[in-house]
Amino acid sequence: MESISSFSPPRRILMGPGPSDVHPRVLQAMARPTIGHLDPAFVDMMDQVKALLRYAFQTENALTLPVSAPGSAGMETCFVNLIEPGDTVIVCQNGVFGGRMKENVRRLGADPVMVENAWGEAVDPARVEDALKANPGAKALAFVHGETSTGVLSDAETLCALAARHDALCIVDTVTSLGGVPVPVDKWGADAVYSGSQKSLSCAPGISPVTFGERAVAAIRARKTPVQSWFLDLTLIMNYWTDGAGAARSYHHTAPVNALYGLHESLVMLRQEGIENCWSRHRRNSDALRAGFRAMGLEPLVGEGSHLPQLTTLKVPEGVDEPLVRRLLLENYGIEIGGGLGSLAGKVWRIGLMGQSSSPAHVTLCLSAMEGTLRDIGANVSDGTAVPAAQAILFES
Ligand SMILES: Cc1ncc(COP(=O)(O)O)c(C=O)c1O
Repeated sequence: MESISSFSPPRRILMGPGPSDVHPRVLQAMARPTIGHLDPAFVDMMDQVKALLRYAFQTENALTLPVSAPGSAGMETCFVNLIEPGDTVIVCQNGVFGGRMKENVRRLGADPVMVENAWGEAVDPARVEDALKANPGAKALAFVHGETSTGVLSDAETLCALAARHDALCIVDTVTSLGGVPVPVDKWGADAVYSGSQKSLSCAPGISPVTFGERAVAAIRARKTPVQSWFLDLTLIMNYWTDGAGAARSYHHTAPVNALYGLHESLVMLRQEGIENCWSRHRRNSDALRAGFRAMGLEPLVGEGSHLPQLTTLKVPEGVDEPLVRRLLLENYGIEIGGGLGSLAGKVWRIGLMGQSSSPAHVTLCLSAMEGTLRDIGANVSDGTAVPAAQAILFES
């Protein structure tokens, strides 16, 4: 115990599947003095956070708020409030996180009907339509927009339209996608959408923005059974996050005050950059990274049509020691990247360009560090071609 003192984290460059680098403005905001969670000044800030989240989600939904826990709690908030025992839910799985949705449904005593797609492929709308037709009366369709385990972006607009046509609610995971690619909740007609603070929003981990549309709110009001989770019961949380100046707010739990200062600041930064500019930045940096890797002789797992700009999954060349490369990147350059999950373990690297970590500096540093590391361990990569290939995209006029 004598040796234990203040914790000073090492300096890292976060280029894995999340968290992403947090801007000093966000860290400074989080270091401001803690005030009470019912303090009028805090309550004003809460209203601003809700307005900014509506901007991020491109929605007018009144029930838009940050859940005081990470993305998994946002997922659980959607399922626990909308699904009741005995309901049927069509769950799409094309990576790790669809499997977690299935587990949520199962634990609620409901019946998950799985629509499986290979890891690395987008959710196939034709299969979803077949499942909806085969299960009339299904309460909801659930899918992951940006699968962080594979780097795939699915066609949310088409999937939400299918759910609406079959009178099913649509639950969408945008933990990685929100802020980095368009998530127009109202245009999609998505009913319940959740995200995370630590990916494209580039805030510290631990907060999960959620938004619920009118059909979802009606479904919550029409429940026959109480929500199984007290903490995530939106009918209770709403009384704290209620709208309107001077509205009486009642205590539900002590909000993570300083974490919410951080989320507020990161959303202010998103607003200042302009969300469309943020989407183009993510797209351009991702295109540059992929071009650089290709020039080096490495191949992305996901083709051009459906890749997620925030996360590039890169095939590990034959004979290369996958964890060794990650370790050397961390030790020699301070760069964190991710390894594969599930069936992709040992076969891919996952390289994130999310939020503040989506910059030309991250792209070029990662490419040169990867090239040097692979060369040092004897892998066959072409020298000196990756960074120029990326620069041609980054700085083309
Ligand atoms: C697509 C997706 N959904 C859900 C989660 C869970 O979020 P959290 O780890 O913040 O609980 C993650 C986290 O990586 C994710 O990438």
